[in-house]
Amino acid sequence: MIKKYTIAMLEGDCIGPEIMREAVKVLRVIEQQSGVTFDLQYAPFGGKAYFDTGKAFPDETKAVCDRADAIVKGPIGLSHADSQRIPVDEQPERGALLPLRRRYNTFANFRPVYLPPELAHFSPLKARVVEGGIDMMMIRELVGGLYFGRKEEGVNAEGKRYVNEVLEYDEDQIRQIMHIAFKESRKRKKVLHNIHKSNVLKSSVLWNAVLDEVAPEYPDVVVKHAIVDAAATALVLNPRQFDVMVMENMFGDILSDLGGGLLGSLGLMPSACVGPEKAYYEPSHGSAPDIAGKGVANPYSMIGSIALMLEKSFGMEKEAQQIMNAMRKVFGSGYTTADLKDPEGKSQVIGTAEFGDKVVAALLH
Ligand code: IPM
Ligand code: MN
Repeated sequence: MIKKYTIAMLEGDCIGPEIMREAVKVLRVIEQQSGVTFDLQYAPFGGKAYFDTGKAFPDETKAVCDRADAIVKGPIGLSHADSQRIPVDEQPERGALLPLRRRYNTFANFRPVYLPPELAHFSPLKARVVEGGIDMMMIRELVGGLYFGRKEEGVNAEGKRYVNEVLEYDEDQIRQIMHIAFKESRKRKKVLHNIHKSNVLKSSVLWNAVLDEVAPEYPDVVVKHAIVDAAATALVLNPRQFDVMVMENMFGDILSDLGGGLLGSLGLMPSACVGPEKAYYEPSHGSAPDIAGKGVANPYSMIGSIALMLEKSFGMEKEAQQIMNAMRKVFGSGYTTADLKDPEGKSQVIGTAEFGDKVVAALLH
């Protein structure tokens, strides 16, 4: 029987369609090579969707996503000026992305921070710090905490505008992300760094208590604790001490961007957002309005997100690995995209489509 998967394709804004196009080129090669069929269903999502349809996450898109086996999403967001023309609650982050996360309860966000040894020169860190490359997996809780807590705003008794937003987690939410993190650690170096702020935040006290309850189920995994601010310093001074890291939503947002900085660009940050029934895949970076339409964006994060989909939603680990190896080969043969700085100037800068073509060529040989 021929396997067929339906994939909702949400191209998003600005550079979204350009990098998505390259990801599709790659997907079509995998289709030929594996015999699996991918039925791609495009649907509007984000800021452009708002201007075209009046909704950042239209009902029609929800229906396409509901029916799909997996969702691939490009970056969303418009320039500051264009965003200002959208009502606050329809702005694509609040009006589309967070509702997508909530709809499919994609609580487990996997953000690999990965730079193979031969590409270590892309990192802004000194060669001796990143010798051997960077390889960690940041696991971010994605549907709790400040992002989804109750929000209230108004004018207080003294006539001052105030805002109150709540950082809320219940123990089940913490437990489920801990299981994900321990299982991931088991597949890797069996060391789990727990990132928290229990010296100040009660939410971290509960977080750590639940971790202690779950840990005995994984006696083979060593748990290490790091307070989030200290972790930020440690990541820069010695990123190679980390393997799997687990953290709440907001900490994960911030440290994963730091992760992109360690690699040299957010353009090297694919991600998987996994829920109990459905997962969606997206680059960790934004929509880069400044370079949209110029054909210079780095499609690595988007293509890498496709690889994560093959692995996590369709059990196609081998194909996922082939894609990552192909991209590694393109960089390794002396090509780069404009976002990456090669201090020795040895690499030749190529555009978005050229990068995609070279990945395809590498897959075919
Ligand atoms: C990310 C992004 C989003 C977030 C924004 C676009 C809402 O920065 O996926 O990291 O903060 O989660
Ligand atoms: Mn972010």
